[in-house]
Amino acid sequence: MKKTVTLTFSDGSPSIELPIEQGTYGKPVIDIRALGAHGYFTHDPGFTATSSCTSAITYIDGDEGLLYYRGYPIEELAYQSDYMEVCYLLLHGELPTTEQKTAFVQSIRHHTLLHDQMENVFRGFRRSAHPMAVMIGVTGAMSAFYHSGLDNFNPAHRIVVAHRLIAKVPTVAAWAYKFNEGQPFVYPQNRLSHAENFMHMMFSSPCEDYQPNPVLARALDRIFILHADHEQNASTSTVRLAGSSGANPYACIASGMASLWGPLHGGANEAVLRMLEEIDDVSKIPEYISRAKDKSDSFRLMGFGHRIYKNMDPRAAIIRQTCYEVLDELDLRDDPQFKIALELERIALEDEYFIARKLYPNVDFYSGIIFRAMGIPTSMFTALFAMARTAGWVAQWHEMLSDPAHKIGRPRQLYIGSARREFVPLDQRKA
Ligand code: CMC
Repeated sequence: MKKTVTLTFSDGSPSIELPIEQGTYGKPVIDIRALGAHGYFTHDPGFTATSSCTSAITYIDGDEGLLYYRGYPIEELAYQSDYMEVCYLLLHGELPTTEQKTAFVQSIRHHTLLHDQMENVFRGFRRSAHPMAVMIGVTGAMSAFYHSGLDNFNPAHRIVVAHRLIAKVPTVAAWAYKFNEGQPFVYPQNRLSHAENFMHMMFSSPCEDYQPNPVLARALDRIFILHADHEQNASTSTVRLAGSSGANPYACIASGMASLWGPLHGGANEAVLRMLEEIDDVSKIPEYISRAKDKSDSFRLMGFGHRIYKNMDPRAAIIRQTCYEVLDELDLRDDPQFKIALELERIALEDEYFIARKLYPNVDFYSGIIFRAMGIPTSMFTALFAMARTAGWVAQWHEMLSDPAHKIGRPRQLYIGSARREFVPLDQRKA
């Protein structure tokens, strides 16, 4: 028998029975859709207890520290798969066969180049613009190049959009960096893997040959896997909400990038490195721990805490391990920032404040150390997150529009403004 919950009212109004739904895993959810007809809405700022959609893509168990893409544990994908397979898995629901993978990789390679006219879009920005600002602008501008004839409700069109975005966003990110640096744009090289190609567009120049280091390329590919999707986080929900109106998907992905840029979300990887630089020495860690605990100080330990994980973020553990591999490869075992990060983690995990609030390192805590060791500037960290997350955004957008029950997103509110009042003409208003 289906479980239900009965809502009773203290004023004696008739009670309301609501169905309880249970997914494959996770907490049961109360389906409150019938409430509107009874004259009630629910109130949940920050969506702390609200499921906004059904999804079959990603599952997180925050108490146990588990993350699955389409049922596969993140650890197995990170160590046994590659980013292209993971993109296919997120988008299509299954790991690809050899033939499917070959065709998918070929399709992504086919789309890596940007329209020649898009170079002018980059040139409209100031050289000093933050790469995320450039990425948001250029990705949004793609809607000006790929709008006519696009039918969002045609699944084949959506797949082309998804492939284009997965392929082109790395080119956009690398070109945002090149533009910052005042260097010529480097075209994608389709004989290279996805991660190698990105490294090539970032680090090669017309006057110097560049050979991507396979250990670093593998590490980067693994970081892309770890960032590929994370169910209904702020940026993914932004993409879904923007896309729910049937809007152009390139503009929707740009809106997701805008949301990701915030320091409480994908901007945290940049903030972590700036924090480690500021701490500068292990001896200063206690001072920063005290500041993080002081409610009158707005400082937070960046890269710590998560809305869902109340245990170690499984991605952080994999990235910490990858950090050792990368620093070993580059002979940077004594990297001072890595030492500060390890010590900060050790001290925080023994501190009552962090234990009581279940604050553990998240995905952003160690990724910046790897990026910096690879020569990627701090301002590009969130751009790399956006590149990788594009796979999740397009998969979630595609899933939403594939759902026959899909509706435009339209939250309600609890109005606390003025009651109705008379308009006062300008000459009669008092200060
Ligand atoms: N440093 C110090 N205190 C913290 C931190 C932190 N990093 N994170 C949370 N707290 C405290 C917070 O002050 C509050 O304390 P109290 O109960 O005494 O008022 C308690 O822990 C709960 O925090 P919250 O802000 O209500 O939790 P939230 O779920 O709304 O926020 C978060 C989650 C990730 C925004 C937050 O933990 C944070 O700001 N972390 C630092 C930024 C960061 O690393 N963000 C990356 C998140 S993972 C990647 C991604 O999602 O993009």
